[in-house]
Amino acid sequence: MAKLKIGIVGMGGIGNNHARCYTANQHTDIVAVCDIIKDKADKAAEAYGAKAFYSVREMLKSGIHLDGCSVTTAGIENGGDHHKPTMELLRAQIPVLGEKPISNEISKARQMVKLAKDRHVPYGVNLNHRFTPAAVQAKEWLKKGRLGELNIVNMTMWINNPNESSPWFHIRALHPHSLDVMRYFAGDVDKVQAFFKKGKGRKIWSNVQANLLFANGVIGHLTGSYDAGGSYGLETLELVGSEGRVVINEACEKLRFYPRFSNQVESFDHLGGMQSFGDTFPSRIGAWVEDLRKKTPPAKIDAKAEDALKVQLVIESIIKSWETGKVVTVPQK
Ligand SMILES: NC(=O)c1ccc[n+]([C@@H]2O[C@H](COP(=O)([O-])OP(=O)(O)OC[C@H]3O[C@@H](n4cnc5c(N)ncnc54)[C@H](O)[C@@H]3O)[C@@H](O)[C@H]2O)c1
Repeated sequence: MAKLKIGIVGMGGIGNNHARCYTANQHTDIVAVCDIIKDKADKAAEAYGAKAFYSVREMLKSGIHLDGCSVTTAGIENGGDHHKPTMELLRAQIPVLGEKPISNEISKARQMVKLAKDRHVPYGVNLNHRFTPAAVQAKEWLKKGRLGELNIVNMTMWINNPNESSPWFHIRALHPHSLDVMRYFAGDVDKVQAFFKKGKGRKIWSNVQANLLFANGVIGHLTGSYDAGGSYGLETLELVGSEGRVVINEACEKLRFYPRFSNQVESFDHLGGMQSFGDTFPSRIGAWVEDLRKKTPPAKIDAKAEDALKVQLVIESIIKSWETGKVVTVPQK
């Protein structure tokens, strides 16, 4: 099978990260890189042996063939710039792997998801935290009944991030990841209730505690912060079932299974050889490439855009809960 021809739009740090993943992937060739900042596009073109473009319109007009395209733009709350290039690519029937958050605006996220659906174009999002052998193993245990009935899903995710650009930057930009992992294990979220706190000297809502009720009755809790991280780690996921408890640290580094009725704990460090969070990028992009190669139907794409829209709907409901002081029912689309 010929290598897939790949484009990347937005050549900042993360666009270059995607580029390194496609370069290392034996099934892909980067043929086009695009950035509205000429220098960034030119440098990337040189580094990856691709053609440089300075707008998606120009890239599409050139007639270059693309089997798929990453959209690694950023913008307001790290999601404000994704809409325009994504709509242009989807209209041209080009499969898109977008970055998170899918958008900082629900109406725009809905438009992109709808367009991809109407046109039957694959549209995935880089919700990379679930693409670890540890998460896959834990899900397998859950499916096979090793945890018994799942009762509780807890997630802590925090990093040091002094960015003060918008009041809701922390929840909108970071927590697509945490909430996606929670949804990966427990499904759709029905209701939320949340409290926020501004960190010391901060203007933005940089700390959050949110309670979640999933549609299947599972209950969960999210702890999030932009005022932590460092030696505190990045993330801790806990699944509590009637027969056992699973803890995953740092997405991939430690996986523990604690049986409820025995003290024989099972421990895996770096399952599948995954070293650290950085390895989730090639893992997620590898899964996207496999979806493209196998022509996975758009509705079955792993971590599809619809999942990314659903986490933003949870996020907006969490904000609404804090603003209204009420338990909020999460819209499902
Ligand atoms: N999945 C993850 O773990 C992870 C981690 C960090 C960041 N991110 C996400 O990655 C995205 C990019 O982050 P970054 O730090 O690389 O941002 P960045 O601002 O450094 O880079 C974005 C680039 O996109 C370009 N751009 C904007 N609009 C464009 C357009 N219409 N056409 C072409 N180029 C355009 C900008 O000029 C810029 O060079 C963000 O959405 C961020 O949330 C994801």
